[in-house]
Amino acid sequence: MRIGILTGGGDCPGLNAVIRAVVRKGSVDHGDEFVGFLDAWDGVREKRFIELTVGTMRGMLPKGGTIIGTRRGSPYDHADGPQRVREVCDELGLDGFVVIGGNGSLSVAAKLHAEIGLPVVGVPKTIDNDVEGTDVCFGFHTAVQTATDAIDRLHTTAESHDRVIVVEVMGRDTGWIATYAGIAGGATAILIPERPFDIDAVIEVVTRRHSRGRYASIVVVAEGAMPLEGTMPAPTYSLDPFGRPRLGGISSAVAEALAERTGFDTRVVQIGHVQRGGTPSAFDRVLCTRLGVAATEALHDGVTGQMVAVRNDQIVRTPLTGVIGKTRFVDLSIYDNVASVFFG
Ligand code: F6P
Repeated sequence: MRIGILTGGGDCPGLNAVIRAVVRKGSVDHGDEFVGFLDAWDGVREKRFIELTVGTMRGMLPKGGTIIGTRRGSPYDHADGPQRVREVCDELGLDGFVVIGGNGSLSVAAKLHAEIGLPVVGVPKTIDNDVEGTDVCFGFHTAVQTATDAIDRLHTTAESHDRVIVVEVMGRDTGWIATYAGIAGGATAILIPERPFDIDAVIEVVTRRHSRGRYASIVVVAEGAMPLEGTMPAPTYSLDPFGRPRLGGISSAVAEALAERTGFDTRVVQIGHVQRGGTPSAFDRVLCTRLGVAATEALHDGVTGQMVAVRNDQIVRTPLTGVIGKTRFVDLSIYDNVASVFFG
């Protein structure tokens, strides 16, 4: 087969590891050839690509980012976009396609499969862990470890200065990273979009802890967290070129309210893109390798319009259409029954 590959959306640790596995499985077992489109769908429209071989991918297992670049945006942003994808695939003689992406890229892949018959298999990625249909997305585990390492370090400085540190982590509309890094890092409180927060309750938790003589607190806030209506002003965000709110800054509002109402010395830390960069964890490397091999196997089984995913630690195939318009939110039993036990 001749197979096109692209990485779409925000980068995350493990993209190269997936590409390496797709290419290795296809080249060695089937004699496949691979075309890596540069900068996601832009590279398809503009016919910019590199040939990917076992040699090209040598040394890429631990390398963060993506060797073929990534962008947001979709062929549907252009009137002739889908038709152009079809033309380029025909011109390059592609009979398979692997899209490695999050909700946006996988939804586009589903549409292209339905509308122009793109023979595509998806691989779910994102540090946000919010793709429906899989138990976990690669990149999430690494991001949680990075955030946890940061929280560990913040504990020691917070304790030395008797400070409250409000730590903001990524996750868009979900609190996966916040919940997991908050549990792993022993947070005093965790604020997530799935549970709009009452600032009075947060203040109460921190004050209670301080009244017991524990002066340092780490409050973990997901970037998409929102206050309960009427409790404090909700943050407003400008939109990026793709119409998505540019999240970031809720931690400052929380810290300001905490400092003002408690008098505690308070600092804010936004971990930001550090969570997306760098080498994937061992867990993610294995997951990426399993998913990459499974994507190639699916194409050789003639299965398209599907995503390879994880269910109960097994790799499964599930229709790409199941991703469209969906967000996989935090399992609230973990937040309510586990994380919150340690608040305060
Ligand atoms: O979707 C991944 C993510 O890292 C989110 O957690 C974050 O809100 C967003 O991307 C930031 O994207 P960028 O800075 O690349 O526009």
